[in-house]
Amino acid sequence: MFIICFLSLFLANGLKEVEIEKCRRDIKEIKRELFSSEKKVIDYNRISSLSDEKKISLKRNIPTYPKYTLSQETIDYLKQPTFDIWYWEPNEMLSLLEHMYHEIGLVDEFNINPITLKRWLLCVQENYRNNPFHNFRHCFCVAQMMYGMIHLCELIKFMPVEDLGILLTAAVCHDLDHPGYNNTYQINARTVLAIRYNDISPLENHHCAVAFQILSNPECNIFSNCDQEKFKRIRAGMTMLILATDMARHTEIMDKFNSVLPVFDFKNKEHVDTLKMVLIKCCDISNEVRPMEVSEPWVDCLLEEYFNQADREKLEGLPVAPFMDREKVTKPSAQIGFIKFVLLPMFENVAKLFPKIESNMVVQLQGALERYKEMKIHEDAMKSNQTILKS
Ligand SMILES: *[C@@H]1O[C@H](CO)[C@@H](O)[C@H](O)[C@H]1NC(C)=O
Ligand SMILES: *[C@@H]1O[C@H](CO)[C@@H](O)[C@H](O)[C@H]1NC(C)=O
Ligand SMILES: [Zn+2]
Repeated sequence: MFIICFLSLFLANGLKEVEIEKCRRDIKEIKRELFSSEKKVIDYNRISSLSDEKKISLKRNIPTYPKYTLSQETIDYLKQPTFDIWYWEPNEMLSLLEHMYHEIGLVDEFNINPITLKRWLLCVQENYRNNPFHNFRHCFCVAQMMYGMIHLCELIKFMPVEDLGILLTAAVCHDLDHPGYNNTYQINARTVLAIRYNDISPLENHHCAVAFQILSNPECNIFSNCDQEKFKRIRAGMTMLILATDMARHTEIMDKFNSVLPVFDFKNKEHVDTLKMVLIKCCDISNEVRPMEVSEPWVDCLLEEYFNQADREKLEGLPVAPFMDREKVTKPSAQIGFIKFVLLPMFENVAKLFPKIESNMVVQLQGALERYKEMKIHEDAMKSNQTILKS
């Protein structure tokens, strides 16, 4: 529909376009190649070589690299919250992510080798699991929403490009290697992750650790050309943002944000840090900001992951939350409270800083809330009819 999928071979005499089939074949090839080298990345005993810059070397002997040529229509559409994230195959999502890094100037800012960027993205993709919800498409959604917000809010006017890079990269990495069972499960079941992180945001700590494990491989390190100080800031920033996605910290972070909001100052690091945390939180749970056709399938995905967890909790004799129980929860009942008490207040507050959020996001959320309320009325009516029939 919106993508012209050509392979552009970068040759000495310019760009040459070949058709889609070859493009896909080549990506498979690179993926296979990466998969074998990836084993190293997963080795948790490997000591990071980042502290020793001399060890960092970039492999430059990859002969050709495929590149999708995105149509102008796609490029513009990608900035919108209405972007249909279901339309794209994984390879295309990789290309779209790659485009974002070029388009907002991150390749220049961090002096990223374009091939390293491709390898890093493939590596990230390989490290998302095929969960019903917490999978690579969710990663893409969160990153795409962040990219959309960067443009919508014109963040470049308020913060350095480095910060935009931290925001986008944290979004891309924020659920790496998510096992599909939430923190409460990890803690109650006393899993390896809960033990490793002493019950303190075990998942988010893990996502972040995997992110830096990937980056500790020089071949996949998009920040390898950054100096120590810059890398330190990137690491601190990404860690702060990924850890902020633990919903157990929602009230804490929102309270902080609301307290600085009346006196918000873009020159105050503490204020901007809080804003960045709220931004990644918005993107992480932004599905209901999207059009109904895009957002609704996500609710089914999330419920599937919840039900799967609840089933396992029942099996293992662990506490089960009613909202995760397939006997008790329905789509509208799951979404109404969430939109009303979590999403709307958060987006409304961000809209106080960036008024465009109001018409582009808050209005959508209000629409979604009304829709789910209607759905609930219908559902309740069906239920009472059934009760009448039975009696
Ligand atoms: C995680 O699962 C537990 C049930 O084990 C539930 O009580 C809790 O609210 C869930 N947390 C989130 C953030 O969904
Ligand atoms: C419930 O039953 C009433 C009367 O029989 C009917 O008019 C109504 O359409 C039914 N509602 C639903 C949601 O099926
Ligand atoms: Zn997430």
